[in-house]
Amino acid sequence: MELRWAFITGAGGDIGGAIADTLARRGWGVICADIDGARAETRAETIRTAGGRAAALTVDVTDEASVAAAAQAALALGDVRALINNAGRAHGSSMRKTDYASWRRDIALNLDGAFLCIHAFQEYLLAGGGSIVNMGSVNGIGMYGQPAYSAAKAGLLHLTHCLAVEFGPHNLRVNAIAPGTVRTQAWNHRMAINPAVFEEVTSFYPMGRVALPQDVANAVAFLVSDEAAYLTGVVLPVDGGISAGIPQLPAAITQER
Ligand SMILES: NC(=O)c1ccc[n+]([C@@H]2O[C@H](COP(=O)([O-])OP(=O)(O)OC[C@H]3O[C@@H](n4cnc5c(N)ncnc54)[C@H](O)[C@@H]3O)[C@@H](O)[C@H]2O)c1
Repeated sequence: MELRWAFITGAGGDIGGAIADTLARRGWGVICADIDGARAETRAETIRTAGGRAAALTVDVTDEASVAAAAQAALALGDVRALINNAGRAHGSSMRKTDYASWRRDIALNLDGAFLCIHAFQEYLLAGGGSIVNMGSVNGIGMYGQPAYSAAKAGLLHLTHCLAVEFGPHNLRVNAIAPGTVRTQAWNHRMAINPAVFEEVTSFYPMGRVALPQDVANAVAFLVSDEAAYLTGVVLPVDGGISAGIPQLPAAITQER
């Protein structure tokens, strides 16, 4: 069987890197795509050293021409059957501290970026089938701060539903992951303010811990696998239960401790 390749954006980062490692271990060729080309190349080299198939590409997912060029290069490398729209991050904070430029940055990276990547790969994927995984967030489901980022992620989750319906007849599945807090470098600026930020956040999680990048990567690997052949339009929380509820609240309501 011909090697299937996955195009993973933000693969120079922690979650994207874990996804690339995991898919490579499961027999995928992986294209590590990132705006930081050096970090993408480091990840690809690590995978090749471990015996996997990997390549690196520099791409700015917010730039249509850059995405089109990366897609062309990726399709020249191999048979891309999975697109993982993982690049993203939150720039703004509360609504009152969000100006229009910061709103646009969050929407551009977390929503437009996925649109541009899907647009660049859709005809190829529709012709031969495959799957798309969009990296959402619990912020796209409930209120956890950062309204601009959250609105972008909510848009991405709804786009997932729309495309699952449109692409389903072509055997192109479209799913999303909604992680809660994941221990990654994206939290470094918060760690600088409060080194105990993860401990503070942990108390709200039913499972009593925050996620590791591998928790998210395992879910992505399942969604792109043939075991998930009948799953499309799914938003899978990988959140230790926080979108189901917060442990302190029932205790406060019932006064049972
Ligand atoms: N860490 C969390 O708590 C958490 C929670 C929920 C969802 N997520 C989502 O998971 C995804 C990965 O986050 P992470 O925590 O691994 O972050 P990270 O900062 O470790 O990785 C993000 C990667 O995206 C790349 N990137 C940024 N802008 C880009 C652009 N314009 N084009 C291409 N690449 C670009 C960065 O260079 C970086 O390598 C994001 O979509 C994020 O919103 C993270």
